[in-house]
Amino acid sequence: MATSLDGKINGAYASVADSGNLFYHLAFESDGYYHPQGWLSGRTTTDDNFTHYAKPDLDEDAPEVPAGDFIVKSPWDMYYVSIDIHGRLAWDSSEFIYNDTHALVLEVLTTKTSNAYKAFLRKLNIPYIIAGDDELDAPLALKKLKDLFGMETVMLGGGGVLNWSFIQQGLCDELSLVLKNSADGSTDTPTLFSATKGLSENKPVSFTFKNVEPHGSTVWLRYLVDNAKS
Ligand SMILES: NC(=O)c1ccc[n+]([C@@H]2O[C@H](COP(=O)([O-])OP(=O)(O)OC[C@H]3O[C@@H](n4cnc5c(N)ncnc54)[C@H](OP(=O)(O)O)[C@@H]3O)[C@@H](O)[C@H]2O)c1
Repeated sequence: MATSLDGKINGAYASVADSGNLFYHLAFESDGYYHPQGWLSGRTTTDDNFTHYAKPDLDEDAPEVPAGDFIVKSPWDMYYVSIDIHGRLAWDSSEFIYNDTHALVLEVLTTKTSNAYKAFLRKLNIPYIIAGDDELDAPLALKKLKDLFGMETVMLGGGGVLNWSFIQQGLCDELSLVLKNSADGSTDTPTLFSATKGLSENKPVSFTFKNVEPHGSTVWLRYLVDNAKS
């Protein structure tokens, strides 16, 4: 995650921070650091940045799709994974392009996600996994990403609601922060971690320092997450 000094993940601070994209370099470039096979995002992050709150064109009369997961392998060995249990994201293609990164879109649904939305994804050849019934079973989702799609490293890439719901469940082993050299003091922009009723609690979590690297006025800071389950 890239944040302001006051822990914001979006907002005016970005316009006065040093330019350069250390976050992108570490996460995605071949000479970067993490080389994840999956980039996991919350539904709001995907709508804000990529699908822009369009409504998916659903066929409510679509024939019943086969039960279970829909597996399509990525030709790029990289997946952009969205948690979208209500089936809201209006993709228009299965190919995801971010700077020079290409990935296959992959959706995480539950058994309650509508048949019409699953048919919409199948029409676009977008793979999906079913994890949970009424609510997301996050450990099962991660297990399926590993077992069915071969993902060894998944980057939990925000926003704050998704990040905190996974950290509360002990599902994150490392926190990697690119701290930008600016702040804006806003109280109405999203933060790095955000407890949300129905998705997460606000049990405190501690972190153990791992490494720090200054890059000009930007700092790359890493911690182990102390509640991580092995
Ligand atoms: N600076 C950075 O590095 C960075 C990185 C990523 C994002 N961002 C910014 O962060 C902002 C969005 O963050 P956010 O915290 O508001 O939202 P978010 O975490 O992106 O998305 C929250 C939504 O995702 C779904 N979701 C998340 N966790 C879930 C769970 N455990 N179970 C079921 N559904 C779950 C829910 O979707 P439904 O509402 O559909 O149920 C929830 O409302 C955007 O402005 C984005 O640009 C910044």
